[in-house]
Amino acid sequence: MRLTEAATTTPETPPKPADRALPSLGARETAGVVGDVLLPVLAGGVIMRRPSAMSLVERTGWDRRGVRRMRALRDRHGTGPLPLTVRGRAYAMVLDPGDAERVLAQTPEPFSPATLEKRGSLAQFQPHGVLISGGREHAERREFVEQVLETPQPLHDLAGPLTGVIREEAAQLLAQGERSGELRWEDFDAAWWRTVRRIVLGDTARDDTTLTAQLGTLRSAANWSLAGPRRKRLRSAFLARVRSYVAHAEPGSLAERVAGTPAATGTDRAGQIPHWLFAYDAAGMAAARALALLATHPEAAAHARAEARDGQVTAPRRLPYLRGCALESVRLWPTTPLILRESTAETSWAGGTLPAGTVFALYTPYLHRAEPAGAAGDSFAPRQWTQETGHRARSNPALVPFSSGPAGCPGENLVLFTVSTLLAALLEEHQFGLASHAQLRSAAPVPATLDHFALRFRVDPLHAE
Ligand code: HEM
Repeated sequence: MRLTEAATTTPETPPKPADRALPSLGARETAGVVGDVLLPVLAGGVIMRRPSAMSLVERTGWDRRGVRRMRALRDRHGTGPLPLTVRGRAYAMVLDPGDAERVLAQTPEPFSPATLEKRGSLAQFQPHGVLISGGREHAERREFVEQVLETPQPLHDLAGPLTGVIREEAAQLLAQGERSGELRWEDFDAAWWRTVRRIVLGDTARDDTTLTAQLGTLRSAANWSLAGPRRKRLRSAFLARVRSYVAHAEPGSLAERVAGTPAATGTDRAGQIPHWLFAYDAAGMAAARALALLATHPEAAAHARAEARDGQVTAPRRLPYLRGCALESVRLWPTTPLILRESTAETSWAGGTLPAGTVFALYTPYLHRAEPAGAAGDSFAPRQWTQETGHRARSNPALVPFSSGPAGCPGENLVLFTVSTLLAALLEEHQFGLASHAQLRSAAPVPATLDHFALRFRVDPLHAE
């Protein structure tokens, strides 16, 4: 055991712990991590979720096994980081909240976000994306992205027109739901993409399903990282389509801001948009899952509805409780289950050193639900993100639904605004019941996986009660 070994070295030559390389997990334990932690993440689809695999992961409780596996390793070896070698590549599992905070805060040096795995996959559709850029390029692209997305602002400058867009699309979705009495994932997803295309590219992109389909094909290829086929012609066609929206930028869209915001040479301003479209997909999953949580937790739903009806509903609002619901959705079912950083130099830890080139993996299902998560664990606790609790969750470095530090998500506020505004519009005059997923209910721990593809809701207008 790592900690015991450190304590039993001979007194004559006591190596300083920080000078010794941390010992790697053995073959059996490595196989356990690969089987229970890495495989379900890869099978589910890191860049584009696969419906059949998501269903399998849910049915077999694979994610729960992953959390159990990490707990067992922590009990045996301490909180690490725990090094392991997979197919010749050095990884280290980060289990301690303080270590997680350090890795994310000391980005991009010595912990670079542009790991080989990410570069291999994301280059399929965003070759100049900030997330796979290094050094000065990362800093310049990041500055541009933060300006356009208005990273620190809870309400973007465009929140007025965007609220109108979100409410219009929500109204159409509700009308469809009222007619059929149900809301299925497919309908939700189509409405979500219409909304996203309008927010990012403008109203003329509303029905450009070809663009989303092109992105989908590229993302599916990206699931295979470096092993995937390079789809260069499709990528060129997709990027040209994105650029043409920026060239004819519509007022009130992010594309307009991209066109009007200066940036350092080499930033590839329009080339940042593919990441936003891709990442907004995760926000759609988070929104649908938040609705599932609200549909099964009546007390929370009452609170959310009261907030949704409070004030001028057509104006942009902060909606802190609904934001908390969106954050809980991502905490409980992280859309980035593995946050990766690759070290550019040797690093020292309490138990020893790890060489340059180690990939540090933050397995968020463990950090967000096991002991590091604190009291909330497997329950739905939106208040931990609100002022009422002094934003308790924000001060716990283990809870990183949007990552944190210099490469943390610059779109967090925009996402929370979009999701909370949509949820408010849906809940204002309608009641939702969950017709799928009997295992999700207020009296039981929140299940480890929620296959969003299988989500189905009953929808009733409130006045019909
Ligand atoms: C639920 C929705 C979202 C979640 C949970 C999320 C979460 C994250 C996480 C965890 C990272 C760090 C990834 C890593 O280090 O490997 C990240 C990075 C990033 N996100 Fe998001 N994101 C979401 C939506 C968005 C949206 C809609 C946008 C843009 C409009 C966006 C823009 C970005 C960018 C540009 C980066 C790269 C930052 C950098 O490398 O400096 N995200 N996001």
